[in-house]
Amino acid sequence: MAAIEIKKDIYWVGAVDWNIRDFHGYSTEKGTSYNAYLIKDEKIALFDTVKKEVKGDLIHHLYQVLGDPSKIDYIIVNHVEMDHSGSLPEMIDLIKPEKIFCSPMGKKALIEHFHREDWPFEVVATGDSISLGKKTVQFLETKMLHWPDSMFSYIPEDKLLISSDAFGHHWATSERFDDEVDPHELMTHAAKYYANILMIFSPIVQKLLAQVKEMGLQIEMIAPDHGVIWRTSPQTILEAYDRWSRGETKNKAVIIYDTMWHSTEKMAKAVMNSLLQAGITNVKMLHVRKNHRSDIITEVLDAKAVILGSPTLNNNIMPAMADIITYMKGLRPKDKIGAAFGSFGWSGEAVKHLTGHMTDMGFDIVGEGVKIKNVPSHEALKGCSELGSAVAAAMKK
Ligand code: FEO
Repeated sequence: MAAIEIKKDIYWVGAVDWNIRDFHGYSTEKGTSYNAYLIKDEKIALFDTVKKEVKGDLIHHLYQVLGDPSKIDYIIVNHVEMDHSGSLPEMIDLIKPEKIFCSPMGKKALIEHFHREDWPFEVVATGDSISLGKKTVQFLETKMLHWPDSMFSYIPEDKLLISSDAFGHHWATSERFDDEVDPHELMTHAAKYYANILMIFSPIVQKLLAQVKEMGLQIEMIAPDHGVIWRTSPQTILEAYDRWSRGETKNKAVIIYDTMWHSTEKMAKAVMNSLLQAGITNVKMLHVRKNHRSDIITEVLDAKAVILGSPTLNNNIMPAMADIITYMKGLRPKDKIGAAFGSFGWSGEAVKHLTGHMTDMGFDIVGEGVKIKNVPSHEALKGCSELGSAVAAAMKK
């Protein structure tokens, strides 16, 4: 990869991480990128750095653009998480910046991470701006998108929003712009990123979108810290964030289940068939040990109904179901219809537990759940068909 000029005198200087497959529990089956940006003006500013392991790529790109990275005057830390700050100590040693701009929470977090109170911090808050010469950088704190320290940097002369984690996606590509990649695949990665990283913060996303509108920011380009740059269709991702953060759903049901000896799986199929017969054509069957939790939660993002199935194991649910439920609870999906089913051998508590978890998440529970002892007969599966019909009816309301 080479540094790429994304606007006049503004460069992508980040790193593409082709081989990462696990990003603290998120399956990055197509890698990711850590995007850092450089503005060449009377003052030269670097926006964020990259993960420590790939700092050589960042340094290489800085040499390409500047000849000498120590020409950089300012480092702007939009986000402290280690995928953007991991190489900061080495970069500060190399650059010896005059100032390091960060939010108030950013300064706190940087000191807690790197224990260097002597760095030349310059704290900025929403509404503050700095001049680099011809170009201005306006700051907008975006607490909890993704961490308390996060902020956006907006360059009004270029109508460019450097958006940190927001509007990003984990996808390693040789292309750097939205119009160079497959749009469907791009939105699939963007939805997965939103579901796994930002769904919990949906109310904050709504407030931020309203604030951006109120401030009248004209956005021609969005440059996030991961994935490709929204050069042609920034409106597409802004509108998607509005839909996802409002919890807008499709007429889609997701059946998430585990099974020991295929009895609960037979029940899952009966529920699915009944949904299909009732006209719900978008149904996903997700065996929880065959699908990664980060892919399952992506399907949950825009599903109207979430139906959970588990056999009873040791008076409880299967461990892999506990995993996805814990993950889902943390991410707080909104306004879902829920239902439960499961087979059992003797005690049969799983359905009660599944229903309890969905109640905790505020799901609108349909029916009392279906339990079947040992292997379901055709007759017994009618209960699952009825559950599927009841869910379909609730979805059509
Ligand atoms: Fe890409 Fe919250 O770090």
